[in-house]
Amino acid sequence: MPRGYFITFEGLDGSGKTTQLRKLAAHLTNSGRSVVTLRQPGSTPLGDRLRTVLLDSRSESSLGAMAPLAEMALMFADRAQAIAQIIAPALESSAIVLCDRFTDSSEAYQGFGRELSSERILAMHAAVCNNLQPDLTLLLLPPLDASLKRARRRNHSTAQRTGTDEGRFEREPSEFYSRVHAGYRQIATREPNRVITIGEGSIEEVAARIVTTVDAHLAAVHSG
Ligand code: TYD
Repeated sequence: MPRGYFITFEGLDGSGKTTQLRKLAAHLTNSGRSVVTLRQPGSTPLGDRLRTVLLDSRSESSLGAMAPLAEMALMFADRAQAIAQIIAPALESSAIVLCDRFTDSSEAYQGFGRELSSERILAMHAAVCNNLQPDLTLLLLPPLDASLKRARRRNHSTAQRTGTDEGRFEREPSEFYSRVHAGYRQIATREPNRVITIGEGSIEEVAARIVTTVDAHLAAVHSG
């Protein structure tokens, strides 16, 4: 069966991964590839509803404090729906799928940040996502302080512009983000073949590094 190629982008809030995903999508499309992009949580009708519940910092006033296990389960409900409606069909049609966050986010944020443990997240991934693994994960992990500042600034200006609020996570204390950061580093150490950490640089420098990495991986698949 023909199978496409599954690439995920990971990193802290404010790491610039969304910009980089768009740039890579443009590069691949210009090279004549069929590309499907999505983000988690979100991108399906169900996922967009879950995104509001999960990210709007005003959710807590109507829903009460979200239990960490409920948060984890909703992230996986979103993912299961995205796999069924978008990712699996796209891979079957041999597209390249670019996904802004995937299960590594659940491991870093819920497993490490909320201290639910990696084991629990990986077991959930096996049960709910059939253990679907990305072929390649691009991890953008600038130093903690820089990315937090950027994320807080951006969330504030988006809230002012659009009236939406996706700041529930960004209100977490810096200890939470230190655990998330450490979690990402552990994942990268555990799976060096899949997870490539992209070093810091200007937007254009990082974009160029990502293109080189992805083109090399795709060439390896085609020659092997
Ligand atoms: P995202 O929209 O990618 O935010 P940003 O562009 O700031 O990186 O992600 C939304 C938030 O959801 C982010 O704070 C991380 C969190 N998240 C989890 O905690 N677990 C998950 O499984 C996913 C997919 C996201």
